Amino acid sequence: MRPIPLKQKNVLITGASSGIGKELAGCFAAEGANLFMGALPTEKEALDAWAGELAARHGVETHTLAVDLSVPKGPVAMHEAAVSAFGPVEVLVNNAGLLAYGEFAKIPLARQRLMVDVNFSAYLSLMHLCLPDMIAARAGGVLNLVSASALQPTPFHAVYGATKAGMLALSLAVAAEVRRAGVRVTALCPSYVDTPLVRNEIPDSMHWFKISGLATPAYIAAEGLAAFQKGRLVHVPGLKNRIIHQVLNPLMPKSLTGRLGARILGPR
Ligand SMILES: NC(=O)c1ccc[n+]([C@@H]2O[C@H](COP(=O)([O-])OP(=O)(O)OC[C@H]3O[C@@H](n4cnc5c(N)ncnc54)[C@H](OP(=O)(O)O)[C@@H]3O)[C@@H](O)[C@H]2O)c1
Repeated sequence: MRPIPLKQKNVLITGASSGIGKELAGCFAAEGANLFMGALPTEKEALDAWAGELAARHGVETHTLAVDLSVPKGPVAMHEAAVSAFGPVEVLVNNAGLLAYGEFAKIPLARQRLMVDVNFSAYLSLMHLCLPDMIAARAGGVLNLVSASALQPTPFHAVYGATKAGMLALSLAVAAEVRRAGVRVTALCPSYVDTPLVRNEIPDSMHWFKISGLATPAYIAAEGLAAFQKGRLVHVPGLKNRIIHQVLNPLMPKSLTGRLGARILGPR
């Protein structure tokens, strides 16, 4: 697939106040794209400041909406506000997400459901709202922030991994449906990244960090944009991660990846 010329393209990006989403907003703005950026109402000030900085630095149009995507009306409000601000969304970046770490049976059900609502249902809703205009225009695409957690069991963040596995399945199926209409869907599957999502939730002592380390959000954002522009279906940033998650893991029986996961992803 040929790269999408991003200059003055309308890009909706969720979770743009922090981490990977903040860096992705910077990458798209550097390419000349107009941005509609979202975050939670508690981060409105930071979101507006970043939007203002990107507009001044790159001469692009930026708009913001601080809205909670965990409720069904959140994605609808975000899509409506984007369309009335700059017209149809040409590129959707589904990025907002959260992670709860701990034993499945001990994490409160409300927190587990919140992950499903933000990491899965909001992505699904925004794809459903934005894709008709892309299909009609026979152009554009969706970049979904999935995770390497989608590629094998993730004990101690079981529901997080489940939301990501669901999003991977949805991305692959929808990508196959819309490909002929000239629309792309990319699932970006990073391993652990140094952002508040990980820092605030996962103990530093987790064994896996010794193997994987923590990537920077800027590196992951650049990898994500490049993969999207190449029309990749799935991209795992980093050669070591591709070998682990896409070559070795599929060769192992699920019972083994689960047991190994419990050892290296569990608290010490
Ligand atoms: N960090 C990693 O290791 C890693 C690895 C693979 C994939 N990912 C995925 O990458 C994406 C970005 O995560 P990150 O690591 O960059 O985390 P982050 O820095 O914590 O950013 C998460 C973003 O999501 C927003 N958000 C959370 N709940 C929301 C809600 N209910 N409504 C609207 N916005 C909400 C946050 O808004 P506020 O700032 O307003 O709270 C923030 O902008 C997530 O989908 C995550 O699963 C992360």
